[in-house]
Amino acid sequence: MADKKARLVVDGVDKEIELPVYHGTEGPDVVDVRPLTGEGLFTYDPGFVSTASCESKITYIDGANGVLLHRGYPIEELAEHSDYLEVCYLLLNGELPTPEQKAKFDYTVNQHTMVHEQLRSFYNGFRRDAHPMAIMCGVVGALSAFYHDSLDINDPHHREVCAYRLIAKMPTLAAMCYKFSIGQPFIYPRNDLGYADNFLRMMFATPCEDYKINPVLSRAMDKIFTLHADHEQNAPTSTVRLAGSSGANPFACIAAGIAALWGPAHGGANEAVLKMLAEIGSVENIPAFIEKAKDPNDPFRLMGFGHRVYRNFDPRSRVMKQTCDEVLAELGITDDPMLDIAKELERIALEDEYFVSRKLYPNVDFYSGIILKAIGIPTSMFTVIFALSRTIGWISHWNEFHSSPNKIGRPRQLYTGEPKRKHPRA
Ligand code: CMC
Repeated sequence: MADKKARLVVDGVDKEIELPVYHGTEGPDVVDVRPLTGEGLFTYDPGFVSTASCESKITYIDGANGVLLHRGYPIEELAEHSDYLEVCYLLLNGELPTPEQKAKFDYTVNQHTMVHEQLRSFYNGFRRDAHPMAIMCGVVGALSAFYHDSLDINDPHHREVCAYRLIAKMPTLAAMCYKFSIGQPFIYPRNDLGYADNFLRMMFATPCEDYKINPVLSRAMDKIFTLHADHEQNAPTSTVRLAGSSGANPFACIAAGIAALWGPAHGGANEAVLKMLAEIGSVENIPAFIEKAKDPNDPFRLMGFGHRVYRNFDPRSRVMKQTCDEVLAELGITDDPMLDIAKELERIALEDEYFVSRKLYPNVDFYSGIILKAIGIPTSMFTVIFALSRTIGWISHWNEFHSSPNKIGRPRQLYTGEPKRKHPRA
């Protein structure tokens, strides 16, 4: 509800324009600029740095203070006391489940882990060296061709079934990408296993040898899923909402989200971190790369550092750093050259004036890349794992969009092209 008003005076418009101001449960007040259209004005905000594109009850971030809340619960507490599927339930339904609700939720997700057998043939249409994100864009979008019985976006039950299907099938589709790339047979899911165990087994088991589940690695995988589950209105989530606003089916919307996540400025960063560490090669080369990162005329940036919203620290990266230490200790990895480079980069960036003054802290992707590499997951799969984890956030936002009064998304623009002119032969 608007309990305050903002007043805007524009040169040449001889009246004061009154705009409602809304107050959320957390965060800054929001000026409702919709009345401006009636006055022949638009706002201009490339990169959406000052624009709330929607109202949401799912996730809150206070970047200045390093706070991330899902449905009000701090991410650190969820990472410590909940597992990924519990966080999925919370994001989707608004409350933590009772033990009975949790058991039912886990069971229902498990009943949807297999994918239509014909989907397997899609993989054969790709080159073996295709980037797995390219395959994911294709196969997730293609799900809409298989599950016609849940595509009525106005039916809450259909939306719920789609959510179950997406949560359950993403690990299966992701592991199939990896198996295809190395020419091994696909491994079917096993519904007696937990979510992370099942994913790791589909990745690493073969028909000749089962995968031995290591609880430390499973828990680390589950934490990576949990820490990436949602992050309010970032580029892919906004993409999913925008695609959804036209009435597109949820599988198509999630495919759009996967495409938006792919870039190195966002989801592609964890893969870019490992590539950068390999490029740096050894600790002696670090100073040259630091200088490149600081050079305003050089586009090079230190991957895994900085964040659009967190200008203090990323609360997820603390949990991730601790998990990283646990995984490396469990696997006895102490003298990996990449790890030495990562540790030295982290040390320099936390002390160097350039990084400190710009608040460029290591972000969640800096540590998750190191953990995934240690578990044995190839770098090309890193962004796929991010997409798998974030699917619950996307589907929760998509569901929220359709559960409340909504409008098709249609941004406007500041046009700076040619003014109206006459065709030369007209
Ligand atoms: N290395 C070197 N300089 C940097 C970096 C970096 N990684 N990030 C920002 N800067 C500098 C930038 O050059 C600018 O300097 P100046 O003020 O002198 O012009 C200043 O810091 C502010 O940067 P910005 O471009 O205004 O920041 P932004 O909010 O637009 O960009 C970012 C945020 C995440 C895209 C950027 O920090 C970046 O490219 N980081 C590397 C990629 C990365 O790790 N991305 C993953 C983000 S976490 C994903 C998630 O939340 O899920």
